Amino acid sequence: MPRRSLLLAFLVVAGAAITANAKVYAPVDSILLNCGSTADGLDGDGRKWQADTNNNEWLGDAGKSSIMAAADELDSSLPSTIPYMTARVFTVETAYNFTVNPKDRHWLRLLFYPSSYNGIAPEDFRFSVSTSTGLTLLRNFSVWVTTKALTQGYLVREFSIPRTPTGVLTVTFTPTPMTNVTYAYINGLEVSSMPDIFDDPATMVGFADQTVDIAGATLQTMYRFNVGGGFIPPSNDSGLSRSWFDDTPYVFGVMQGVTYNAGARFHVKYPSEIAEYVAPVEVYTGTRSMGSDARVNQNYNLTWTMEVDANFTYVVRFHFCELLLNRPNQRAFDIYVNNKTAQSDADVIEMTSERGVPTYKDFAVHMPDEPGDEIMWIALHPSVALRPQFYDAILSGLEVFKLNDTAGNLAAPNPLPSKMLADAELGASDKDRSRKSKEQANMATVIGGTAGGAAAVGIVAAICVVVYHNKKTKELSGSESHTSAGWLPLYNSHTSGKSSGHLAANLGGMCRHFSLAEMKAGTKNFSESLVIGVGGFGKVYSGVVDGDTKVAIKRSNPSSEQGVLEFQTEIEMLSKLRHRHLVSLIGFCEEDNEMILVYDYMEHGTLREHLYNKGGKPPLSWRHRLDICIGAARGLHYLHTGAKYTIIHRDVKTTNILVDENWVAKVSTSASPSPAPPR
Ligand SMILES: *[C@@H]1O[C@H](CO)[C@@H](O)[C@H](O)[C@H]1NC(C)=O
Ligand SMILES: *[C@@H]1O[C@H](CO)[C@@H](O)[C@H](O)[C@H]1NC(C)=O
Ligand SMILES: *[C@@H]1O[C@H](CO)[C@@H](O)[C@H](O)[C@H]1NC(C)=O
Ligand SMILES: *[C@@H]1O[C@H](CO)[C@@H](O)[C@H](O)[C@H]1NC(C)=O
Ligand SMILES: *[C@@H]1O[C@H](CO)[C@@H](O)[C@H](O)[C@H]1NC(C)=O
Ligand SMILES: *[C@@H]1O[C@H](CO)[C@@H](O)[C@H](O)[C@H]1NC(C)=O
Ligand SMILES: *[C@@H]1O[C@H](CO)[C@@H](O)[C@H](O)[C@H]1NC(C)=O
Ligand SMILES: *[C@@H]1O[C@H](CO)[C@@H](O)[C@H](O)[C@H]1NC(C)=O
Repeated sequence: MPRRSLLLAFLVVAGAAITANAKVYAPVDSILLNCGSTADGLDGDGRKWQADTNNNEWLGDAGKSSIMAAADELDSSLPSTIPYMTARVFTVETAYNFTVNPKDRHWLRLLFYPSSYNGIAPEDFRFSVSTSTGLTLLRNFSVWVTTKALTQGYLVREFSIPRTPTGVLTVTFTPTPMTNVTYAYINGLEVSSMPDIFDDPATMVGFADQTVDIAGATLQTMYRFNVGGGFIPPSNDSGLSRSWFDDTPYVFGVMQGVTYNAGARFHVKYPSEIAEYVAPVEVYTGTRSMGSDARVNQNYNLTWTMEVDANFTYVVRFHFCELLLNRPNQRAFDIYVNNKTAQSDADVIEMTSERGVPTYKDFAVHMPDEPGDEIMWIALHPSVALRPQFYDAILSGLEVFKLNDTAGNLAAPNPLPSKMLADAELGASDKDRSRKSKEQANMATVIGGTAGGAAAVGIVAAICVVVYHNKKTKELSGSESHTSAGWLPLYNSHTSGKSSGHLAANLGGMCRHFSLAEMKAGTKNFSESLVIGVGGFGKVYSGVVDGDTKVAIKRSNPSSEQGVLEFQTEIEMLSKLRHRHLVSLIGFCEEDNEMILVYDYMEHGTLREHLYNKGGKPPLSWRHRLDICIGAARGLHYLHTGAKYTIIHRDVKTTNILVDENWVAKVSTSASPSPAPPR
């Protein structure tokens, strides 16, 4: 069954190890606060976050008027429980004072996780964050509204603050005054010195003779991409603790170009004018270029699009490093920012004079407030007029920073989810909440339990550490209806298929271990009458667990080629993904050589069944169709941008879009094949 091995072959782009001689910046100041926690702890990347007790050196007496709280729910899209699962909640304006080296610029990172804390609903947190240097970083900010609109499980807001001559950086949290009581909160706070990587002025796009001075500005990081490469965690950056993301989801259109990686042994030669920590080696050893067909390349632009806030000036930093060519005019291209020429005839070898030498260029652009979404367009196109040897363009890294306005403000309004989406979710949200509060109770006990005696049963148990009791309400036990199991493949393009140690460390999964007896009882000893899908891997049954919770149970055929490793990989991957618009993996059973996966049951079957009136399914109203489309799109968007790694589904079709009892669309994300349904 070659198809299966293909489906399970998660594309692995091995992170090139940082070459041994690369220099790493050592910050003078480095404070990582695990806000609202009395204990120090390590995050998923092994970075240590300090306890933030009441009356500590940064908060002083102000700490007494604030509350130390724990998040009421755990979302598995969190990269780590530390520092996200605890928060300091402020009822009145409160400041942290940090003593900092007055000579350095500093990163200020604010980490937020949307949840209720100590029973305070997530909507009731609305606040501003400002500094003693007169900057407004966030205003009337709602983590809940923002994460919902962006479909993200958590938020990191990163600012680069210019030198603080007084030597004290004060960060103030102010609840927004409104008719209803509001609160402020913070989960993690990081202050660390950084090198001068914003010294040179940026050229204003469209006004070659004008520049924007960024040396005195505060910058907010909007996007940071390792173009043509994978995710680089803070611990693998060049000492600046930045996260670099895969650019693939932001490449516009079908023409995505090609990626190239020179490998870990490639020697990147940092010239003296570029500090080695502007970007890590890994950014420069991977590129995205247009492809090998000159005729095709002439007729398209390699384009990235990114949503930004209106009324601000942005600095776009392009990182280049030529990995293959040696001579000028072999590869020359034009750079467009927002459809205006930022630079024509860019030639990396001309800029660096040598292969393997990195360089970067900054351009500034103002985003006016125009109707519709504010989208920044970045495009590259071969400089055909120069007749270079190859009609091609190349990019290694891309960063977009927002600059403070003249009033020292960086805050923008909270993003709005589309109106239709807001309406659609209104009805379902109450149900969600009551279900979640049931989960909480169980979760708390289990986290405590695993921390103690984690030496559990076998490798798989070590992977799925958090027990997830999915006790659904009665409405599930309604009429018998069949889900044709179109469970399908998911490709995780940028993580290794066996990072189990890492996952175990960050308690990322929510995955329950079932006994074989429970599986047998739930399926009437795997009764043929309960089979709802068959494939090369085995059969899918509709079943019941915990008395009344309906589930779909996928049992691997003993003769199936799906090996233990694939089984574990699947659990590890799927248990990390949890979203309103994704079919959830509830748990697994590994006993007596059986490999069984347990998923949420989808009462209303597949979208296809409704569109083609299969199995007596009624046609859908236009309203439901639209809601299902939007829901599926949100599920996919979460896979692209909300999870820690970029995940490309690669098999989106109506049999992979399932509908639950509330007509909520769920994208199927199981990595197992099924026979292709008739189209
Ligand atoms: C980070 O660096 C370590 C050691 O250099 C390496 O083993 C690991 O694969 C890297 N991780 C990523 C995601 O690049
Ligand atoms: C922090 O700084 C502010 C203003 O400079 C001051 O009023 C406050 O007392 C300081 N708090 C602590 C704990 O030092
Ligand atoms: C904050 O935002 C909410 C809703 O977006 C709005 O109703 C309120 O007036 C805003 N408050 C302030 C002080 O801007
Ligand atoms: C204020 O609280 C009341 C009662 O808790 C609620 O009905 C109302 O919608 C809230 N108003 C706002 C603007 O959040
Ligand atoms: C941008 O500025 C204009 C004029 O000051 C204002 O009317 C508009 O509301 C602003 N837009 C945003 C998104 O803040
Ligand atoms: C750039 O051009 C595209 C079409 O090619 C258009 O959709 C987009 O709105 C333009 N962007 C800006 C910022 O003008
Ligand atoms: C590339 O983008 C520029 C700027 O938006 C535009 O003028 C040009 O027509 C585009 N070229 C192609 C082939 O799309
Ligand atoms: C940002 O703030 C600094 C200092 O407050 C100021 O000098 C600068 O002009 C501001 N930047 C912009 C783009 O207005």
